[in-house]
Amino acid sequence: MTEMMTEPTAGLERGPADGPEAPISYGGYLEVPGLLELQRPRTEAHDELLFIVTHQTFELWFACALRELERARDLIQQGRTGPARWCLRRMREMVRLWVVQMDVLGTMTPEGFNEFRGVLGESSGFQSVQFRELEMICGLRERRYLTLPGSTAAECERLNRRFEEPSLRDAFTALLERNGLDAEALFVPGLAPDELRELAEDLLEFDAAFHQWRYRHWLLVVRALSSRPGTGGSAGAEFLRRTLDQWFFPELHEARTGVSDVRKDTAAEPAGPGCPLGHGTATA
Ligand code: HEM
Repeated sequence: MTEMMTEPTAGLERGPADGPEAPISYGGYLEVPGLLELQRPRTEAHDELLFIVTHQTFELWFACALRELERARDLIQQGRTGPARWCLRRMREMVRLWVVQMDVLGTMTPEGFNEFRGVLGESSGFQSVQFRELEMICGLRERRYLTLPGSTAAECERLNRRFEEPSLRDAFTALLERNGLDAEALFVPGLAPDELRELAEDLLEFDAAFHQWRYRHWLLVVRALSSRPGTGGSAGAEFLRRTLDQWFFPELHEARTGVSDVRKDTAAEPAGPGCPLGHGTATA
């Protein structure tokens, strides 16, 4: 019997492999040398590399998320609820990872941040084109984000396309309509097919996970800046607190919790404090 190999040996006998004929390797396939050229701290501050890597990692995840959300939207448009649910489950897991990922940057102290904050100028996550694309494809469209400071012509074009194209929210609403349903009917026991109700639950789970990211980011900012303004020119934590009112599928949340029914029942009573899921616009 031949002895089992316990460790990978592929290519160990060869030297550096960066010629055109070189067999594919881990670093070559993933372009690791090029990737590690892309972090260029502008100060000697210890935490700046962590700050850059964290944000770059998010941008890479946003690229994956946009691909996944496009697929989920297209599948819902085709009425293929089963595969769409897989995409949404993947999205939920991805966003849960984003929430935890914020903890690493949360170990940075305000002093550590201040050592390099000056070099950020007016740059801010507020200007992340992919983040705005993500919001738009989910259904949160705000015209003012079509012209983000610092974005290139190609990025503006992408934002405009996202703004115009059907969102995940549109696709699900259209699917309900094709089935003769609306959000409220979806949650009336026995009225909607199980597959639609379950798809709605996946959309809501993803929305809740994203909301947790918004909350985690807000908390990070409270701890790093307190009441100081952000580099992007907003009121900082106060601005972000107002974004916590934003949901991708507010009508599903409302219908599921029966808020709409309660409102109808109490229509004759004096107006209350308003919808707890009021999807108001946060102004920078
Ligand atoms: C020390 C860490 C961080 C601080 C102090 C911080 C601070 C802020 C502040 C103050 C804003 C409001 C806009 C402004 O005036 O700048 C903001 C927005 C934003 N940040 Fe961060 N941030 C941090 C980390 C991150 C990370 C890791 C991401 C990941 C991509 C991120 C993404 C965003 C996004 C997408 C917005 C826009 C949010 C919205 O408009 O709903 N931030 N950040």
